[in-house]
Amino acid sequence: MKHLLKLLDLSDKEILDILNLADQLKYEKKNNIDHQYLKGKTLGMIFQKSSTRTRVSFEVGMYQLGGSALFLSPRDLQIGRGEPIEDTARVLSRYLDGIMIRTFEQKEVEDLAQYGSIPIINGLTDFAHPCQVLADLMTIREIKGGFKGLKLCFIGDGNNMANSLIVGCLKVGMKVSIACPEAYCVCDEILEFAKDYPGFEMTTDVLKAAQGADVIYTDVWASMGQESEALERMKHFKGYQVNDEVMAVANKGAMVLHCLPAHREEEITAKVFEEHASEIFEEAENRLHAQKAVLVKLLKGEK
Ligand code: CP
Ligand code: NVA
Repeated sequence: MKHLLKLLDLSDKEILDILNLADQLKYEKKNNIDHQYLKGKTLGMIFQKSSTRTRVSFEVGMYQLGGSALFLSPRDLQIGRGEPIEDTARVLSRYLDGIMIRTFEQKEVEDLAQYGSIPIINGLTDFAHPCQVLADLMTIREIKGGFKGLKLCFIGDGNNMANSLIVGCLKVGMKVSIACPEAYCVCDEILEFAKDYPGFEMTTDVLKAAQGADVIYTDVWASMGQESEALERMKHFKGYQVNDEVMAVANKGAMVLHCLPAHREEEITAKVFEEHASEIFEEAENRLHAQKAVLVKLLKGEK
């Protein structure tokens, strides 16, 4: 594994190896066991979109591993004035040990990897959010004790979160159902991947998708960059909400996850959110541990 661009690129074993290392790093952190595996290493972090969790957890993660992180705003970088990604990649590769980038197009992330010579980590694109799903899988395994036979139901937009959840969950052996409005369903590339897995289904019917689910997952109706579509989307997504009705058809003891930020009374009711807050905030914490595992794997090599 040279980069983390999207989960489609990772083998099932590579995903499980990251999760195992993440568990180990979480244990080491909780027990004050020294784990400065990246002493002297520097991560550059390019953010073309806002972030709370990704930014803070990567920066703190590098610090805890003995390295350092540089926040690079496109407003300050020459990228913002049109310097090509292929030149930026070749220059930054000579200073840094790795780059984490959050941007719009998946192609930009793939180009950085193609032209640079250091590991590239996707910190969210319109297509994928692999770091989030590694933390999600870590949380599911921590709470449910494994993956076998579990069904995850995602309710909402068929974009980055749905795409990465489908790939990640199917690869670790879970079943996945997606409920999304017809006009916002998952793209062909992901459907092509999922078609070989009998445990995959996509529907417009929220209750059908949630039936017998062990994990219910949702995300905002309008993602970053889609703010101008928010009103229009509200009409299409009405009803695509995690609420008591949904929880009633899910399996008893089903957990609820949300990548955050959450919009209460839109994609999730405040009641369900608060009833499952301990799971949702454990999930947020696990961003730190899962990303530290990715950083160790990529910046240090096999531990
Ligand atoms: N879930 C997530 O990626 O959060 P941020 O946008 O705050 O980084
Ligand atoms: N779909 C959301 C995820 C945020 C973590 C977005 O892209 O804004």
